[in-house]
Amino acid sequence: MPTARKKTPVIELKKLTKRYGLGDAALSALDEVDLKISQGEFIAIMGPSGCGKTTLLNIIGLLDRADDGDYILDGKSVESLSSAQHAHIRSNQIGIVFQSFNLINRLPVLENVALPLTYKGMRRLKRLERASEVLKQFHLQEREYYMPWQLSGGQMQRVAIARALVNDPSIILADEPTGNLDSRSSHVIMEELSELHKKGNTIIMVTHNPNLTSYASRVIKMLDGKIASDRRIDINVKDEGVVKIPLNRHLSQEKVEREKKTTDSPASRRSKKTPKKTAKSTKPKKAAKK
Ligand SMILES: Nc1ncnc2c1ncn2[C@@H]1O[C@H](COP(=O)(O)OP(=O)(O)OP(=O)(O)O)[C@@H](O)[C@H]1O
Ligand SMILES: [Mg+2]
Repeated sequence: MPTARKKTPVIELKKLTKRYGLGDAALSALDEVDLKISQGEFIAIMGPSGCGKTTLLNIIGLLDRADDGDYILDGKSVESLSSAQHAHIRSNQIGIVFQSFNLINRLPVLENVALPLTYKGMRRLKRLERASEVLKQFHLQEREYYMPWQLSGGQMQRVAIARALVNDPSIILADEPTGNLDSRSSHVIMEELSELHKKGNTIIMVTHNPNLTSYASRVIKMLDGKIASDRRIDINVKDEGVVKIPLNRHLSQEKVEREKKTTDSPASRRSKKTPKKTAKSTKPKKAAKK
């Protein structure tokens, strides 16, 4: 589990720039991005295709390097660290969930989840024990010996999340973790991320689904490699136009839409202000009893 919360930002980006291509064809996938993220934040990153979300996540996850600017992780510039130190951070502090699951098809679920522990030099039996423990938390213990291709999309993504968590990372990066899932499975995944957030982990999630931002404590919108807006949200307050989906409830998309319509409709607003002014209330029960 994560260590005590810190006030200083766990991640700080200063004028972070990433370019692709050369000369006239050069493109800034990230254009002088400034961002501070504190431990325990749950950030949803949104924005149109190609605006730089994955590039940003890959740099934060040390899978890629910026061309300019600074990335300060836990008070240290990552540029000043060796590649061995990068590898150490990747296998101890950061867990990454990819949109396409990235499970290894020829390995059973248990081995897939245990994989990140191999890089830590943990012995096989211990690795498998730890992987089994995490799978149990995700109610997947009966699937330990299944091959990835024998699982549903939702189960695959839960295995991928279990694998990202097996090292007990304090920072979880998730690139459209629900992008390939139906709405019910999406909410199961979101509840799991929400639980991790409640335990004090930092979560940075890319999503295209505005409904899912209701789980986040901060919503960042990107456009053309820049941060276009950055909004902190009290996650206990219902956000305008976005349905707050309570935890432990799996809603179908239709139900979400229905709730949204009911909540937004003028009739529902009227009925909230004057709850019981109906035909019945004009005929008091007392009178009926007499
Ligand atoms: N390896 C690469 N080589 C060249 N250009 C790249 C490379 N990776 C990304 N880009 C470009 O950088 C820009 C940002 O890409 P990125 O993948 O970060 O977008 P995104 O916001 O994640 O989009 P999506 O929502 O479609 O996943 C895009 O214009 C993309 O074409
Ligand atoms: Mg992307």
